[in-house]
Amino acid sequence: MSASNTEWDVQLQSFLNDGFSRLPREPQKGRDIYSGYLRGCGLRFGNIGALCLADPVFTKAFELARATAPDGQPRTVVNELNLANLFAIMKLNLSRQPIPGHIVEYGCLRGGSAIFMAYAAKHLLPGVRVIGFDTFAGLPDTNPNTDVYDRGAFDTVDLDELRSYVASIGLDNLSFVKGTFDATLGTALPGIGQVCLAHIDCDIYDGVVSAYELTKPYLSPGAYLVFDDPLVPTCIGAFEAVEELLVRRDGLHAEQIFPHLVYRHPD
Ligand SMILES: C[S@@+](CC[C@H](N)C(=O)[O-])C[C@H]1O[C@@H](n2cnc3c(N)ncnc32)[C@H](O)[C@@H]1O
Repeated sequence: MSASNTEWDVQLQSFLNDGFSRLPREPQKGRDIYSGYLRGCGLRFGNIGALCLADPVFTKAFELARATAPDGQPRTVVNELNLANLFAIMKLNLSRQPIPGHIVEYGCLRGGSAIFMAYAAKHLLPGVRVIGFDTFAGLPDTNPNTDVYDRGAFDTVDLDELRSYVASIGLDNLSFVKGTFDATLGTALPGIGQVCLAHIDCDIYDGVVSAYELTKPYLSPGAYLVFDDPLVPTCIGAFEAVEELLVRRDGLHAEQIFPHLVYRHPD
């Protein structure tokens, strides 16, 4: 067995042992709180970071995600802990308890986190594709009452260059769709079919609303909804969309609150 396929032995600091032993192992309130605690505490108070750094799939995926793009910027602005948690979801959960469907990303910028997930999926989740959605021309209109960003924030990205780079590193499981979520998801999602993980990283209220509402009918039972932004100080608009739609309207409870928000689709 290659090192990349060895099981992880997640160890936590001893003060957590009693609490963990009494946690329910069955999903409750639509989320698997045991897994959420294990990943979050494993990253904050345990050895998941060390396990990632010792895992050749993680280290290569991270190297590709952090590679310098032609504009001199790293391909991803997503921080290492958030990437590690995406990896932990794939390694500890999706590879052991598969959920039908593919991975979608809403907000790709220079493609880094999509590249990270595609490399990890290629090794951990055979047959799973990653489809990234973005204007590739910066933010569309933002909500002046809730968002701090203005239209056009984030750079325009050379999508031809990004596609060439993705092909050059052999990621034939990754593709991109250009346009606003409102304009593209209605036609793209029926072709994708089911979704097992949605990484929502679009920073603003309207983007989160569109991504969640348009993807919801395609989420497999138990699918992961990972929100990169709502706990970031510049993204209260993104959090407001989560509060309104997932928390208040749909009554969902978070599976994980560190390093980013994770919910599960209950139906
Ligand atoms: C923080 S960046 C994404 C970062 C990226 N995941 C990475 O690895 O660095 C946010 C992106 O969301 C995109 N975005 C926001 N709202 C959108 C919408 N409604 N439709 C399409 N793209 C949108 C922006 O164009 C921008 O590139």
